[in-house]
Amino acid sequence: MRNRPQNHAQFGAHFITMDCKEENLFDKLPHDTMLFDIVSCQFALHYAFRSEKALRQMLYNISAGLRKGGYFIGTLPDAERIVHLLRKTTDGKFRNDVLSIEYIDKTSNWSTLQPPLFGAKIYFSLDERVNCPEFLAYFPLLEEVCKDFDLELVSCKNFSDAIQSYDKNDQRNLMTRMKALEEYPFEEDRLNHMRETLSGAQKFSSEYAHVERKRHEMASSGDRRNNNGCLGTLSKSEWEVVAIYQTFIFRKI
Ligand SMILES: C[S@@+](CC[C@H](N)C(=O)[O-])C[C@H]1O[C@@H](n2cnc3c(N)ncnc32)[C@H](O)[C@@H]1O
Repeated sequence: MRNRPQNHAQFGAHFITMDCKEENLFDKLPHDTMLFDIVSCQFALHYAFRSEKALRQMLYNISAGLRKGGYFIGTLPDAERIVHLLRKTTDGKFRNDVLSIEYIDKTSNWSTLQPPLFGAKIYFSLDERVNCPEFLAYFPLLEEVCKDFDLELVSCKNFSDAIQSYDKNDQRNLMTRMKALEEYPFEEDRLNHMRETLSGAQKFSSEYAHVERKRHEMASSGDRRNNNGCLGTLSKSEWEVVAIYQTFIFRKI
């Protein structure tokens, strides 16, 4: 806080430890008449898809304190995208370089997998960092239940589309500040390390071929947007993960 620039506004914060899909938030707020302009739920709403009761309690907590015209914003793994990936497997386990998803079910015909609307359990492990049971959140269902809580959908975008729409000059600064994409080509020592090891070299050619193609296309078409030859990008596996997530905005009516 001491290093915070002087022109940044100060604001208070109040932390409450609770299970938002089981308990009533308004029993715990310092003033139960508090109203909010924004409710943000990042990478967490899908845990409430354990059951309809849980989702309804969660949405009650989200909506009841929102002002009319206030926004509920969030991010979620996209169930339709995940089911699409699982249907292509032979054992209900999708795996790439950074992500593994396992659907917990006795299904044998994965190509026609049809998970239930609630309680569809998966194990989701990203870069070995998250490793606990989660639930598939089918977005059209969320949109429908939100209507009962006076939340109307404003926008829902896959992360890949969201990145493209934010990758405009006026918003590129924010993307850079958040270090959302990595710079390619990498620094020389990382590049050398990848080339020198067998797995590194294989990984390099399979995971970054799309970037090399794009660089050549840009160079041959005389595209000068990246005049130092650098592109903001991710590896193929990381783009696959990006495409699994979606962002959403609801407005309280
Ligand atoms: C994948 S993490 C995301 C954390 C953080 N929002 C972020 O973007 O880095 C999911 C978070 O949701 C929280 N969570 C899951 N179910 C919850 C519930 N029923 N009530 C409150 N928090 C919950 C977990 O404790 C965890 O911190």
